[in-house]
Amino acid sequence: MERFKNKVCLVTGAGSGIGRATALAFGQEGAKVVVTDVNLENAEKTAEILRGQNVEVLTLKIDISDREEVENMVKKTVDTFGRLDCAVNVAGIAGTLSLPTHAYPMDEWHKQINVNLNGTYYCVKYQIEQMLKQGGGSIVCVSSAAGLRGQPYNVPYAASKHAVVGLVKTAAIEYATQNIRINAICPTAIETPMIMEGRRKLAYNPEALEAAKNYQAMKRMGQPEEVADVALYLCSEQASFMTGHALPVDGGAFA
Ligand SMILES: NC(=O)c1ccc[n+]([C@@H]2O[C@H](COP(=O)([O-])OP(=O)(O)OC[C@H]3O[C@@H](n4cnc5c(N)ncnc54)[C@H](O)[C@@H]3O)[C@@H](O)[C@H]2O)c1
Repeated sequence: MERFKNKVCLVTGAGSGIGRATALAFGQEGAKVVVTDVNLENAEKTAEILRGQNVEVLTLKIDISDREEVENMVKKTVDTFGRLDCAVNVAGIAGTLSLPTHAYPMDEWHKQINVNLNGTYYCVKYQIEQMLKQGGGSIVCVSSAAGLRGQPYNVPYAASKHAVVGLVKTAAIEYATQNIRINAICPTAIETPMIMEGRRKLAYNPEALEAAKNYQAMKRMGQPEEVADVALYLCSEQASFMTGHALPVDGGAFA
């Protein structure tokens, strides 16, 4: 399939996990890919794989919580490739602490809100601005299962991911008649560095790993490619009548 032939597709957080899988999937389907991440070394690794497959790539070091960098990200995309057809906003952080709501340190609260909510808002804001100029486009934001239900002991994560769903639904309504679709995806446990090495360190904690698998009806974690496939579907013409969704990618967890 080459659903994105000659389309310009941008991915944030493309240096790892779900973002890398999404960037590679766009490349396989004929897109020109804008690979962005705050970690330039990892973004370059993703770009290297794409170039090896003869995909046209622009690589950018972008911290999404910096509004000017995000504005520049869209500008450089347009300067290089002339337009922006699809954007998948994957970049996010889950924090390192497990604490009850009243005890969560303020700096950690602000850090997660800054990246997951403010950062995603900056992305959507400048992506929409460009899509309005060119007459349309499609955006997907990666929220989480924690954007649909509470996640005990990680309130900034759950609050910021719920807010991403509100941002997506509101923007979806506002631009629905202007040929811009915007959807969210809400994955449960996906096997990436964030979950294996991060807050819950599943790679070193067999009990927590079992619990993470059992959260899904399928009794396994998802793979980043399985989330990328849903992101590409939502960006594609096959989802032309879908906007404003917060779609679980969840191995049956929400059933
Ligand atoms: N892995 C899961 O189980 C899971 C479940 C639900 C939602 N998610 C969400 O999916 C997204 C991707 O997660 P992942 O599991 O692939 O994690 P990951 O840690 O493997 O990848 C996240 C990427 O985002 C980048 N990033 C972090 N902060 C950034 C910033 N300020 N600006 C730009 N880039 C930044 C990191 O450098 C990294 O490359 C996140 O938004 C996460 O909250 C993950």
